[in-house]
Amino acid sequence: MGTNGITREKLIGMISGRNAEAQALYRKAYRVKLEQVGKLVYFRGIIEFSNICTKNCYYCGIRRDNHKFKRFSMTEGEILQCAELAWNYRYGSIVLQAGERSDAEFVEFVEKILKKIKKMSGGSLGITLSLGEQAADTYRRWFEAGAHRYLIRIETSSRKLYRSLHPEDHDFDRRVSCIAALRDIGYQVGTGVMIGLPGQTEEDLADDILFFREMDVDMIGMGPYILHRDTPLAKNVSGFDPARQLRLGLNMIAAARIALKDVNIAATTALQALDPKGRELGLQAGANIVMPNITHTRYRSGYRLYDSKPCLDENAGVCRACLSHRIRDIGEEIGYNQWGDSPHFSRRSLKGGFD
Ligand code: 5AD
Ligand code: SF4
Ligand code: FES
Repeated sequence: MGTNGITREKLIGMISGRNAEAQALYRKAYRVKLEQVGKLVYFRGIIEFSNICTKNCYYCGIRRDNHKFKRFSMTEGEILQCAELAWNYRYGSIVLQAGERSDAEFVEFVEKILKKIKKMSGGSLGITLSLGEQAADTYRRWFEAGAHRYLIRIETSSRKLYRSLHPEDHDFDRRVSCIAALRDIGYQVGTGVMIGLPGQTEEDLADDILFFREMDVDMIGMGPYILHRDTPLAKNVSGFDPARQLRLGLNMIAAARIALKDVNIAATTALQALDPKGRELGLQAGANIVMPNITHTRYRSGYRLYDSKPCLDENAGVCRACLSHRIRDIGEEIGYNQWGDSPHFSRRSLKGGFD
């Protein structure tokens, strides 16, 4: 199967590239990015508002069975403060992310916050949710309350690998059906995977890109897998190679840009955990979105999905200055005060409906 004439074999070749070959791939992907989505980098201020999670993914530091740290939930007032900061910073939109919960109290809490943020900004601050698997009705309520984008990573498109990374009751098909439900409701939908997972091959990663294409998503947020020492998965990994993780992460961004063309692709924080310049490298390999952390500093160390997460001691202002310098240094510009929807979404909507 091909995507825009790009075969699975071609994708595998891109994902496996090293050294000069990889550099040439990034240059090509950068040209495609300029042509398709332009040179503006869009900011999404991310608020990681709670580390309480009902799930138990084997790779993740805030999984339910990790009792080695304290759980927190930011209050409504604290979340609104962060949103207001994003608004004052002229970030066009924010991302609300937390561990997965689907109890009625949580659903209502999020709904209320969405309405308040919309009101505070006169409707103009865009809101993306990253809150995992929910009932279609919940997705609808949150959409009606003001969220218009939703990120839900498939983590890996290989069923076999998915099984090895999650307990029995975490269901691959349910996750796929969530992506479909979100599209039907009218969200701009993003998905993504972890890259360089134990047991994951270059073929699997090529299939991930084919999966993105098949699901016709508008946004991609993917990043290298990084160990978290207090997880079952990390205990089974030997020979973790950060340089390989970084290279695979960048190769995937470039391959996705070349194959999918007009989608938004994030240069994720996990890249920066492997290299101080990780996010800039991501932008130079074809990404066009950056998610500055705007979570209150006192909560940052509690939201640790993986070890060596950057920016734990910084505050929103420091991250803003840091990222704007870094982006200026590579000759790109930030699209302040704009939602920065992907051209893919605009085209999909123009075609009429979401099918
Ligand atoms: N390394 C990298 N990414 C991780 N995530 C969770 N744990 C890790 C890890 N150890 C990612 C998952 C999830 C997102 C919120 O964080 O892809 O969807
Ligand atoms: Fe919870 Fe998400 Fe971590 Fe899984 S990856 S344990 S759902 S926060
Ligand atoms: Fe947070 Fe650089 S992005 S300090």
